[in-house]
Amino acid sequence: MSASLPEFPWDTLADAKAQAAAHPDGLVDLSVGTPVDPVAPLIRDALAAAGSASGYPATAGTARLRESAVAALDRRFGITGLAEAAVLPVIGSKELIAWLPTLLGLGSTDAVVVPELAYPTYDVGARLAGAQVVRADSLTQLGPLTPSLIYLNSPSNPTGRVLGVDHLRKVVTWARDRGVLLASDECYLGLGWDAEPVSVLHPAVCDGDHTGLLAIHSLSKSSSLAGYRAGFVAGDPTVVAELLAVRKHAGMMVPTPVQAAMVAALDDDAHERQQRERYERRRAALLPAIRSAGFGVDHSEAGLYLWATRGEPCADSVRWLAGRGILVAPGDFYGPGGARHVRVALTASDERIAAAAQRLTQG
Ligand SMILES: Cc1ncc(COP(=O)(O)O)c(C=O)c1O
Repeated sequence: MSASLPEFPWDTLADAKAQAAAHPDGLVDLSVGTPVDPVAPLIRDALAAAGSASGYPATAGTARLRESAVAALDRRFGITGLAEAAVLPVIGSKELIAWLPTLLGLGSTDAVVVPELAYPTYDVGARLAGAQVVRADSLTQLGPLTPSLIYLNSPSNPTGRVLGVDHLRKVVTWARDRGVLLASDECYLGLGWDAEPVSVLHPAVCDGDHTGLLAIHSLSKSSSLAGYRAGFVAGDPTVVAELLAVRKHAGMMVPTPVQAAMVAALDDDAHERQQRERYERRRAALLPAIRSAGFGVDHSEAGLYLWATRGEPCADSVRWLAGRGILVAPGDFYGPGGARHVRVALTASDERIAAAAQRLTQG
Protein backbone atom coordinates (compact mmCIF):
# COMPACT_ATOMS: atom_id res chain seq x y z
CA MET A 1 0.00 0.00 0.00
CA SER A 2 2.74 2.48 0.91
CA ALA A 3 4.15 2.10 -2.61
CA SER A 4 0.97 3.69 -3.94
CA LEU A 5 1.57 6.74 -1.75
CA PRO A 6 4.04 9.55 -2.41
CA GLU A 7 7.38 9.64 -0.62
CA PHE A 8 6.77 11.10 2.87
CA PRO A 9 7.84 14.68 2.14
CA TRP A 10 9.33 15.62 5.51
CA ASP A 11 11.80 12.71 5.34
CA THR A 12 13.46 14.42 2.37
CA LEU A 13 14.35 17.52 4.41
CA ALA A 14 16.92 15.72 6.60
CA ASP A 15 20.00 17.24 4.87
CA ALA A 16 18.66 20.79 5.00
CA LYS A 17 17.75 20.27 8.65
CA ALA A 18 21.27 19.08 9.49
CA GLN A 19 22.71 22.10 7.68
CA ALA A 20 20.40 24.55 9.49
CA ALA A 21 21.01 22.90 12.87
CA ALA A 22 24.75 23.56 12.49
CA HIS A 23 24.17 27.32 12.79
CA PRO A 24 26.10 28.64 15.83
CA ASP A 25 22.96 30.22 17.27
CA GLY A 26 20.92 27.08 16.63
CA LEU A 27 18.10 25.98 14.37
CA VAL A 28 14.98 28.03 13.68
CA ASP A 29 12.52 25.43 12.47
CA LEU A 30 9.80 27.06 10.36
CA SER A 31 9.10 23.92 8.34
CA VAL A 32 6.38 21.62 9.68
CA GLY A 33 4.20 24.26 11.31
CA THR A 34 3.79 22.48 14.62
CA PRO A 35 2.48 24.60 17.52
CA VAL A 36 5.09 25.47 20.17
CA ASP A 37 3.11 27.42 22.77
CA PRO A 38 1.95 25.61 25.90
CA VAL A 39 -1.64 24.41 26.07
CA ALA A 40 -3.79 26.87 28.05
CA PRO A 41 -4.18 25.88 31.73
CA LEU A 42 -7.99 25.74 31.53
CA ILE A 43 -7.69 23.09 28.79
CA ARG A 44 -5.05 21.07 30.66
CA ASP A 45 -7.22 21.17 33.79
CA ALA A 46 -10.25 19.89 31.87
CA LEU A 47 -8.15 17.04 30.42
CA ALA A 48 -6.84 16.07 33.85
CA ALA A 49 -10.27 16.28 35.50
CA ALA A 50 -11.60 13.73 33.00
CA GLY A 51 -8.57 11.46 33.42
CA SER A 52 -10.33 8.85 35.54
CA ALA A 53 -12.99 8.05 32.91
CA SER A 54 -12.63 4.35 32.19
CA GLY A 55 -15.47 3.53 29.80
CA TYR A 56 -15.46 3.67 26.01
CA PRO A 57 -16.31 7.08 24.58
CA ALA A 58 -19.31 7.37 22.25
CA THR A 59 -18.31 7.76 18.60
CA ALA A 60 -20.69 10.72 18.29
CA GLY A 61 -18.97 12.44 21.21
CA THR A 62 -20.75 13.84 24.23
CA ALA A 63 -23.82 16.03 23.72
CA ARG A 64 -21.89 18.71 25.63
CA LEU A 65 -19.06 18.62 23.10
CA ARG A 66 -21.38 18.88 20.13
CA GLU A 67 -23.23 21.77 21.81
CA SER A 68 -19.91 23.54 22.43
CA ALA A 69 -18.86 23.09 18.81
CA VAL A 70 -22.17 24.49 17.51
CA ALA A 71 -21.94 27.48 19.87
CA ALA A 72 -18.28 28.19 19.03
CA LEU A 73 -18.96 28.10 15.27
CA ASP A 74 -21.76 30.60 15.78
CA ARG A 75 -19.81 32.93 18.10
CA ARG A 76 -16.50 32.85 16.28
CA PHE A 77 -17.58 32.52 12.64
CA GLY A 78 -21.27 33.47 12.40
CA ILE A 79 -22.36 29.97 11.38
CA THR A 80 -26.04 29.54 12.20
CA GLY A 81 -28.66 26.84 11.81
CA LEU A 82 -26.37 23.94 12.72
CA ALA A 83 -27.98 21.12 14.71
CA GLU A 84 -25.93 19.19 17.26
CA ALA A 85 -26.45 16.02 15.22
CA ALA A 86 -24.68 17.75 12.33
CA VAL A 87 -21.37 17.70 14.24
CA LEU A 88 -19.02 14.74 14.58
CA PRO A 89 -15.77 14.88 16.60
CA VAL A 90 -12.64 13.42 15.02
CA ILE A 91 -9.18 12.51 16.29
CA GLY A 92 -7.51 15.31 14.35
CA SER A 93 -8.53 16.55 10.95
CA LYS A 94 -5.58 14.81 9.28
CA GLU A 95 -7.10 11.47 10.24
CA LEU A 96 -10.51 12.53 8.92
CA ILE A 97 -9.05 13.79 5.64
CA ALA A 98 -6.93 10.68 5.14
CA TRP A 99 -9.97 8.42 5.55
CA LEU A 100 -12.90 10.54 4.33
CA PRO A 101 -13.01 9.11 0.78
CA THR A 102 -12.84 5.59 2.25
CA LEU A 103 -15.55 6.31 4.85
CA LEU A 104 -17.73 7.66 2.01
CA GLY A 105 -17.21 4.47 0.01
CA LEU A 106 -15.39 6.19 -2.88
CA GLY A 107 -13.31 4.01 -5.21
CA SER A 108 -11.71 3.76 -8.61
CA THR A 109 -14.65 5.27 -10.49
CA ASP A 110 -14.64 8.40 -8.33
CA ALA A 111 -12.65 11.61 -8.75
CA VAL A 112 -11.58 13.80 -5.86
CA VAL A 113 -10.70 17.42 -6.66
CA VAL A 114 -7.98 19.05 -4.57
CA PRO A 115 -6.47 22.55 -4.88
CA GLU A 116 -3.46 22.89 -7.21
CA LEU A 117 -1.31 23.76 -4.21
CA ALA A 118 -2.60 21.74 -1.31
CA TYR A 119 -2.09 20.04 2.02
CA PRO A 120 -0.84 16.63 0.83
CA THR A 121 -3.31 14.53 2.85
CA TYR A 122 -6.21 15.31 0.46
CA ASP A 123 -4.31 13.40 -2.21
CA VAL A 124 -3.30 10.65 0.22
CA GLY A 125 -6.91 10.09 1.34
CA ALA A 126 -8.08 9.75 -2.25
CA ARG A 127 -5.28 7.30 -3.01
CA LEU A 128 -6.05 5.20 0.08
CA ALA A 129 -9.58 4.80 -1.29
CA GLY A 130 -8.29 4.04 -4.79
CA ALA A 131 -10.00 7.16 -6.18
CA GLN A 132 -8.62 9.48 -8.88
CA VAL A 133 -7.11 12.82 -7.87
CA VAL A 134 -7.63 15.95 -9.97
CA ARG A 135 -5.76 19.17 -9.08
CA ALA A 136 -7.83 22.24 -9.95
CA ASP A 137 -8.46 25.71 -8.58
CA SER A 138 -11.35 26.59 -10.87
CA LEU A 139 -14.49 24.86 -12.02
CA THR A 140 -13.71 25.54 -15.68
CA GLN A 141 -10.58 23.39 -15.33
CA LEU A 142 -12.87 20.43 -14.59
CA GLY A 143 -14.57 20.51 -18.01
CA PRO A 144 -17.29 17.86 -18.18
CA LEU A 145 -15.96 15.94 -15.16
CA THR A 146 -18.38 15.39 -12.29
CA PRO A 147 -16.23 14.55 -9.27
CA SER A 148 -17.57 12.84 -6.16
CA LEU A 149 -15.79 15.14 -3.73
CA ILE A 150 -14.23 18.60 -3.94
CA TYR A 151 -11.87 19.97 -1.31
CA LEU A 152 -11.54 23.67 -0.61
CA ASN A 153 -9.05 25.09 1.87
CA SER A 154 -9.42 28.76 2.80
CA PRO A 155 -7.20 30.17 4.24
CA SER A 156 -4.94 27.89 2.27
CA ASN A 157 -2.06 25.79 3.38
CA PRO A 158 0.47 26.54 1.90
CA THR A 159 -0.38 29.86 0.20
CA GLY A 160 -2.47 31.72 2.80
CA ARG A 161 -4.95 32.56 0.05
CA VAL A 162 -8.48 33.39 1.16
CA LEU A 163 -11.47 32.53 -1.05
CA GLY A 164 -14.06 35.32 -1.07
CA VAL A 165 -17.80 34.90 -0.56
CA ASP A 166 -18.53 35.13 -4.32
CA HIS A 167 -16.00 32.41 -5.15
CA LEU A 168 -17.36 30.15 -2.41
CA ARG A 169 -20.97 30.74 -3.51
CA LYS A 170 -20.11 29.81 -7.08
CA VAL A 171 -18.51 26.52 -6.03
CA VAL A 172 -21.39 25.71 -3.66
CA THR A 173 -23.99 26.29 -6.40
CA TRP A 174 -22.00 24.29 -8.97
CA ALA A 175 -21.54 21.37 -6.54
CA ARG A 176 -25.19 21.40 -5.44
CA ASP A 177 -26.45 21.40 -9.03
CA ARG A 178 -24.42 18.25 -9.68
CA GLY A 179 -24.86 16.48 -6.32
CA VAL A 180 -21.13 16.78 -5.58
CA LEU A 181 -19.99 16.77 -1.94
CA LEU A 182 -17.97 19.85 -0.99
CA ALA A 183 -15.53 19.50 1.92
CA SER A 184 -14.13 22.79 3.14
CA ASP A 185 -11.02 22.44 5.29
CA GLU A 186 -11.31 25.41 7.65
CA CYS A 187 -8.54 24.69 10.13
CA TYR A 188 -7.05 28.21 9.70
CA LEU A 189 -10.39 30.05 9.54
CA GLY A 190 -9.70 32.13 12.67
CA LEU A 191 -6.36 33.41 11.37
CA GLY A 192 -7.26 36.21 8.96
CA TRP A 193 -4.74 39.08 8.75
CA ASP A 194 -5.32 41.15 5.61
CA ALA A 195 -8.55 39.35 4.66
CA GLU A 196 -11.48 37.91 6.57
CA PRO A 197 -11.94 34.20 5.88
CA VAL A 198 -15.53 32.94 5.65
CA SER A 199 -16.86 29.45 6.32
CA VAL A 200 -18.66 27.52 3.61
CA LEU A 201 -21.45 27.08 6.19
CA HIS A 202 -21.87 30.85 6.67
CA PRO A 203 -25.33 32.02 5.55
CA ALA A 204 -23.72 34.56 3.17
CA VAL A 205 -22.21 31.59 1.31
CA CYS A 206 -24.84 28.84 1.52
CA ASP A 207 -28.04 30.81 2.32
CA GLY A 208 -28.41 28.71 5.47
CA ASP A 209 -28.70 25.43 3.55
CA HIS A 210 -25.94 22.97 4.51
CA THR A 211 -26.92 20.30 1.99
CA GLY A 212 -23.86 18.76 0.36
CA LEU A 213 -21.44 20.76 2.51
CA LEU A 214 -18.92 19.68 5.15
CA ALA A 215 -16.71 22.05 7.13
CA ILE A 216 -13.62 20.46 8.68
CA HIS A 217 -12.35 22.13 11.86
CA SER A 218 -9.27 21.49 13.95
CA LEU A 219 -8.25 22.65 17.41
CA SER A 220 -4.58 21.99 16.62
CA LYS A 221 -3.74 25.56 15.66
CA SER A 222 -6.53 27.62 17.25
CA SER A 223 -5.93 26.11 20.72
CA SER A 224 -2.47 24.56 20.18
CA LEU A 225 -3.97 21.08 20.64
CA ALA A 226 -2.04 19.33 17.85
CA GLY A 227 -0.70 16.82 20.36
CA TYR A 228 -4.13 16.05 21.78
CA ARG A 229 -5.58 15.21 18.32
CA ALA A 230 -8.83 17.14 18.36
CA GLY A 231 -11.10 18.26 15.56
CA PHE A 232 -14.61 17.91 14.24
CA VAL A 233 -16.58 17.91 11.03
CA ALA A 234 -19.89 19.75 10.68
CA GLY A 235 -22.43 20.37 7.96
CA ASP A 236 -24.93 18.31 5.99
CA PRO A 237 -26.75 16.25 8.67
CA THR A 238 -27.28 13.31 6.31
CA VAL A 239 -23.59 13.07 5.41
CA VAL A 240 -22.52 13.50 9.04
CA ALA A 241 -24.98 10.75 10.05
CA GLU A 242 -23.48 8.47 7.39
CA LEU A 243 -19.95 9.15 8.64
CA LEU A 244 -21.12 8.40 12.18
CA ALA A 245 -22.79 5.16 11.07
CA VAL A 246 -19.54 3.95 9.46
CA ARG A 247 -17.33 5.20 12.29
CA LYS A 248 -19.45 3.32 14.88
CA HIS A 249 -18.04 0.20 13.24
CA ALA A 250 -14.62 1.55 12.34
CA GLY A 251 -13.80 3.28 15.64
CA MET A 252 -11.40 6.25 15.72
CA MET A 253 -13.43 7.60 18.68
CA VAL A 254 -12.08 10.71 20.38
CA PRO A 255 -10.76 9.79 23.87
CA THR A 256 -13.00 11.00 26.72
CA PRO A 257 -10.38 13.31 28.35
CA VAL A 258 -9.68 14.91 24.95
CA GLN A 259 -13.41 15.48 24.48
CA ALA A 260 -13.48 17.26 27.85
CA ALA A 261 -10.46 19.34 26.83
CA MET A 262 -12.22 20.23 23.55
CA VAL A 263 -15.28 21.48 25.46
CA ALA A 264 -13.06 23.76 27.56
CA ALA A 265 -11.26 25.02 24.45
CA LEU A 266 -14.43 25.63 22.44
CA ASP A 267 -16.17 27.41 25.32
CA ASP A 268 -13.33 29.88 25.87
CA ASP A 269 -12.47 32.50 23.27
CA ALA A 270 -9.86 34.35 25.35
CA HIS A 271 -7.06 31.78 24.92
CA GLU A 272 -7.93 31.45 21.23
CA ARG A 273 -7.61 35.22 20.79
CA GLN A 274 -4.33 35.21 22.69
CA GLN A 275 -2.94 32.48 20.40
CA ARG A 276 -4.06 34.40 17.34
CA GLU A 277 -2.30 37.51 18.65
CA ARG A 278 0.93 35.54 19.11
CA TYR A 279 0.85 34.47 15.47
CA GLU A 280 -0.01 37.99 14.38
CA ARG A 281 3.07 39.35 16.22
CA ARG A 282 5.31 36.65 14.74
CA ARG A 283 4.01 37.42 11.27
CA ALA A 284 4.67 41.14 11.79
CA ALA A 285 8.29 40.32 12.70
CA LEU A 286 8.91 37.77 9.95
CA LEU A 287 7.16 39.34 6.95
CA PRO A 288 9.41 42.43 6.56
CA ALA A 289 12.48 40.35 7.39
CA ILE A 290 11.82 37.77 4.65
CA ARG A 291 11.14 40.59 2.18
CA SER A 292 14.36 42.34 3.15
CA ALA A 293 16.20 39.11 2.30
CA GLY A 294 14.98 39.44 -1.30
CA PHE A 295 11.89 37.24 -1.17
CA GLY A 296 8.56 38.19 -2.68
CA VAL A 297 5.60 37.06 -0.57
CA ASP A 298 2.48 35.95 -2.46
CA HIS A 299 -1.03 35.67 -0.96
CA SER A 300 -0.34 35.00 2.75
CA GLU A 301 -3.21 37.26 3.71
CA ALA A 302 -4.31 34.71 6.30
CA GLY A 303 -3.26 31.48 7.95
CA LEU A 304 -0.05 30.29 9.48
CA TYR A 305 2.43 30.59 6.61
CA LEU A 306 4.28 33.00 4.36
CA TRP A 307 4.40 31.81 0.75
CA ALA A 308 7.70 33.23 -0.40
CA THR A 309 9.80 33.19 -3.57
CA ARG A 310 13.06 34.52 -4.94
CA GLY A 311 12.15 33.31 -8.43
CA GLU A 312 14.54 30.37 -8.13
CA PRO A 313 13.95 26.62 -7.68
CA CYS A 314 12.61 26.00 -4.17
CA ALA A 315 15.51 23.68 -3.30
CA ASP A 316 17.89 26.64 -3.78
CA SER A 317 15.84 28.82 -1.44
CA VAL A 318 15.64 26.01 1.14
CA ARG A 319 19.44 25.67 0.99
CA TRP A 320 20.04 29.43 1.21
CA LEU A 321 17.80 29.70 4.28
CA ALA A 322 19.33 26.56 5.85
CA GLY A 323 22.69 28.30 5.53
CA ARG A 324 21.24 30.92 7.90
CA GLY A 325 19.99 28.25 10.28
CA ILE A 326 16.37 28.58 9.11
CA LEU A 327 14.47 25.49 7.98
CA VAL A 328 11.44 25.96 5.71
CA ALA A 329 9.31 23.69 3.53
CA PRO A 330 9.96 23.55 -0.23
CA GLY A 331 6.89 24.63 -2.20
CA ASP A 332 6.88 21.52 -4.36
CA PHE A 333 5.70 19.50 -1.32
CA TYR A 334 2.30 21.03 -2.08
CA GLY A 335 2.09 20.53 -5.83
CA PRO A 336 4.12 21.16 -8.99
CA GLY A 337 2.96 24.80 -9.02
CA GLY A 338 4.99 25.39 -5.87
CA ALA A 339 8.35 24.62 -7.48
CA ARG A 340 9.66 28.18 -7.05
CA HIS A 341 8.23 28.96 -3.61
CA VAL A 342 8.99 28.05 -0.03
CA ARG A 343 6.53 27.89 2.85
CA VAL A 344 7.64 29.71 5.97
CA ALA A 345 5.65 28.81 9.10
CA LEU A 346 4.86 31.31 11.86
CA THR A 347 5.02 28.52 14.44
CA ALA A 348 8.14 29.16 16.47
CA SER A 349 8.67 30.87 19.81
CA ASP A 350 8.98 34.67 19.87
CA GLU A 351 12.68 34.22 20.64
CA ARG A 352 13.27 31.94 17.62
CA ILE A 353 11.23 34.20 15.31
CA ALA A 354 13.29 37.18 16.46
CA ALA A 355 16.49 35.20 15.77
CA ALA A 356 15.26 34.36 12.26
CA ALA A 357 14.28 37.97 11.57
CA GLN A 358 17.70 39.17 12.69
CA ARG A 359 19.55 36.65 10.50
CA LEU A 360 17.40 37.56 7.49
CA THR A 361 17.87 41.30 7.89
CA GLN A 362 21.61 40.99 8.41
CA GLY A 363 21.96 39.29 5.02
C1 LIG B 1 -4.86 22.40 5.65
C2 LIG B 1 -4.69 21.47 6.80
N1 LIG B 1 -5.68 20.63 7.10
C3 LIG B 1 -5.58 19.78 8.12
C4 LIG B 1 -4.46 19.73 8.91
C5 LIG B 1 -4.39 18.71 10.00
O1 LIG B 1 -4.54 19.22 11.25
P1 LIG B 1 -4.85 18.27 12.47
O2 LIG B 1 -4.78 16.87 12.01
O3 LIG B 1 -3.83 18.56 13.48
O4 LIG B 1 -6.25 18.63 12.90
C6 LIG B 1 -3.40 20.59 8.65
C7 LIG B 1 -2.20 20.53 9.48
O5 LIG B 1 -1.26 21.23 9.34
C8 LIG B 1 -3.52 21.48 7.55
O6 LIG B 1 -2.54 22.31 7.25
